[in-house]
Amino acid sequence: MIFFEGRAKIDIPEIVLSKKSKVFYNPYMKINRDFTIIILKSFYDISGKKFEILDSMAATGIRSIRIFKEIPEVVKSLTIVDIRESSIDNIKENLKINEIEGDIEILREDCRKVMYSRHFDYIDIDPFGSPVGFIQPAVFSLRNGGLLGVTATDISALSGSRKEACFRKYGVISFKTDFYLEFGIRVLSKYVIEEALRFDVALVPVFSYYYRHHYRIFFRKTKRSREIRYLIDNLGFVYYCRNCGYKSDEDERCKICGNKMERIGPIYKGNLYDELTLKYFDANRKNFSLDKDENTIIERILGCDSKMNVWYYYDLGYIAKYLKIDRIPKMEKILEVNNACRTHFSNLGIKCYEYPNLKI
Ligand SMILES: C[S@@+](CC[C@H](N)C(=O)[O-])C[C@H]1O[C@@H](n2cnc3c(N)ncnc32)[C@H](O)[C@@H]1O
Repeated sequence: MIFFEGRAKIDIPEIVLSKKSKVFYNPYMKINRDFTIIILKSFYDISGKKFEILDSMAATGIRSIRIFKEIPEVVKSLTIVDIRESSIDNIKENLKINEIEGDIEILREDCRKVMYSRHFDYIDIDPFGSPVGFIQPAVFSLRNGGLLGVTATDISALSGSRKEACFRKYGVISFKTDFYLEFGIRVLSKYVIEEALRFDVALVPVFSYYYRHHYRIFFRKTKRSREIRYLIDNLGFVYYCRNCGYKSDEDERCKICGNKMERIGPIYKGNLYDELTLKYFDANRKNFSLDKDENTIIERILGCDSKMNVWYYYDLGYIAKYLKIDRIPKMEKILEVNNACRTHFSNLGIKCYEYPNLKI
């Protein structure tokens, strides 16, 4: 079965979106690969430095093939790894179909072994489910100033929908809130940041998004004490009112309904975007054919998520239910009255500093 994505052409035995497929390819993850390419190109434009790249869980090899064909100028070397023999055979075939030759290494190996023994400037972690267990080796393997791309698809654990799994895997106290999709990305970032801090390293988030059951976060590695301090200062518990959805950094009575607030976290409350990276990302995205969903995500990130310095959004459906409002007013009106903006996490999610006023 032949598939085209970006400038790559891949031949795969079957499309089965499960771990059990011989070789894994998910067309819905095009956004993940598109954004990876745009981030790598943006970092290259900023630093002028080529990357030694580790595609640590390559499956069909499509990510590496696209990098090689679409942004060859950023590649110093490419190491393509997968633990499965069927994937390695498929990667070799796909490289041949795409007429790719050159300094490319293909390894059938546990990527953790590769990471503990070698150093790279860009590491891509794209597992089935949770990236827990792959972060620590990546901290060792990534060069200072390097970039780490992490995917997670265990949204229900991260977002607090499965609170025991959230505690077990990520050490976070949670339950499902009205802003659960942003909570999840802040649990994941806190986990990655903490793993690195243990070794006196800062992994600073520079770009992130949520789309169709996955999170993706890019981190830049640095050892600068100012950045380590920034991350530490932005890790902490938050307080949530289960009755009306009010959120606070303080342990206090709910300012809206007077209920007792509940403590959840710890999460990362700081910035999930770097301004310079976003500027280059915005300029570079025009050279790639992105679809409507991808552009909507970027526009909301540029216009809202990266601008509004809050760790949450309010879900209008949830707030309307609490306020006993049958019909939610027009979005434009809500945004104007509340000085709010639309987050990319949810079509009904708005970011604002005060509890939303919907009686308008
Ligand atoms: C979700 S798929 C990766 C998809 C691919 N990155 C893409 O963009 O299409 C996960 C892959 O990781 C591989 N994998 C799982 N554990 C691994 C490990 N410890 N080391 C290397 N590869 C591993 C699996 O065989 C599978 O091919």
